[in-house]
Amino acid sequence: TRTQVAIVGAGPSGLLLGQLLHKAGIDAVIVERVSGEYVLGRIRAGILEQVCIDLMDEAGVGQRMHREGLVHGGIEMLYGGQRHRVDLNKYSGGKNVMVYGQTELTRDLMEARAAAGLPTIYEAKNTAVHGFDTAKPYVTYEKDGVEHRIDCDFIAGCDGFHGVCRASAPRSAIREYEKVYPFGWLGLLSDTPPVCDELIYVNSPRGFALCSQRSMTRSRYYLQVPLTDKVEEWSDDAFWQELKLRLDEEARETLVTGPSIEKSIAPLRSFVTEPLRFGRMFLAGDAGHIVPPTGAKGLNLAATDVKYLYDALVDFYKDKSEAGIDDYSRKCLARIWRAERFSWWFTQLMHRFPHDEQITAKFQNAELDYLMHSEAGLRTIAENYVGLPLDFGD
Ligand code: FAD
Ligand code: DHB
Repeated sequence: TRTQVAIVGAGPSGLLLGQLLHKAGIDAVIVERVSGEYVLGRIRAGILEQVCIDLMDEAGVGQRMHREGLVHGGIEMLYGGQRHRVDLNKYSGGKNVMVYGQTELTRDLMEARAAAGLPTIYEAKNTAVHGFDTAKPYVTYEKDGVEHRIDCDFIAGCDGFHGVCRASAPRSAIREYEKVYPFGWLGLLSDTPPVCDELIYVNSPRGFALCSQRSMTRSRYYLQVPLTDKVEEWSDDAFWQELKLRLDEEARETLVTGPSIEKSIAPLRSFVTEPLRFGRMFLAGDAGHIVPPTGAKGLNLAATDVKYLYDALVDFYKDKSEAGIDDYSRKCLARIWRAERFSWWFTQLMHRFPHDEQITAKFQNAELDYLMHSEAGLRTIAENYVGLPLDFGD
């Protein structure tokens, strides 16, 4: 097969890139290691920034999102046993975020791709990328025991943190920065009404908690847990009990519990690859960087990488200009580091770290108290949480 852009990975990054390229009349083939059903079974992010919403619209797949997504103009912060609201809309100059699950966004993109008859190879084994340091890169994979080859102009590495693209970049040309946090998040999904109409981020003596949601009837809750905990050891009852202990009295009484639909533990990591371009191969989304989930930035950063890559490829094919692809890495990394910084800062502000001195919790409380009572503090949270403007710092 021959195509213009070979995309590795059919997560949100790969699918969104594929859809945008299709709209621009640029051919792409997507190769994915697992099945579509498996991709949809992974419960992950839940909050979309305006830039991500705009991109779904640009890709022509925003209808259901606008119908079913919940617009949120604020978040609540619980610390010292008291809740404080951050008016995101007011302190960001009129911006909001949207509650719309990653699985829903992925489903919309998958359906649009199928409806347009665009090629995705699911359950491709042993995918490998070749020749990206030349003008004739290609991708190989095995399907049902037969080896296939896709010749292309460019390879888009949208294959997540454990993918093959970053791993194939020459070690001498790549630099990786990493911080692993000494705890994980235990997440629980349930068909119960959310405890609050807005998200609650909790700093408690028993550790961090987050009350999130997917709809008016579906809730998503998270608990900070030690890395040594196993998900099988956490019964639903134990989860609800621990969550209540981290909430304020009002939330404890309002909380509706029920059987879990899904429960999983995710490790927390900050990770950045520099650069994000290796000749004719580009990394986008989790393939190039990971943020701890506290700031709700992972999916949104993936979307902006894709926007920059799409713009660069359109410049190349329509205007015969390489300026966009030459600047891709620099442009992405400037935005990535800002989101990495916010996610790391918000994580250390909200979690209990092993071996912390007692004074650390006091510092956290004092910092939260300062932020909640200062116009500058509220602005710093709001403008980062809703997403800094795409041209920030330019
Ligand atoms: P992915 O979604 O990882 O997609 C990559 C795709 O590539 C996958 O489908 C994978 O199967 C495929 N692939 C991998 N290797 C190969 C290969 N060799 N060949 C072919 N295909 C391959 N973000 C938040 O904002 N909030 C959250 O609560 C949150 N929770 C998360 C929980 C977990 C467990 C994880 C892992 C991430 C979470 N994130 C969260 C981050 C967010 O989900 C990611 O940033 C987002 O999924 C990035 O999309 P992506 O398409 O770049 O990568
Ligand atoms: C969700 C996850 C997050 O990491 C976050 O900051 C907000 C919401 C969620 O899964 O709903």
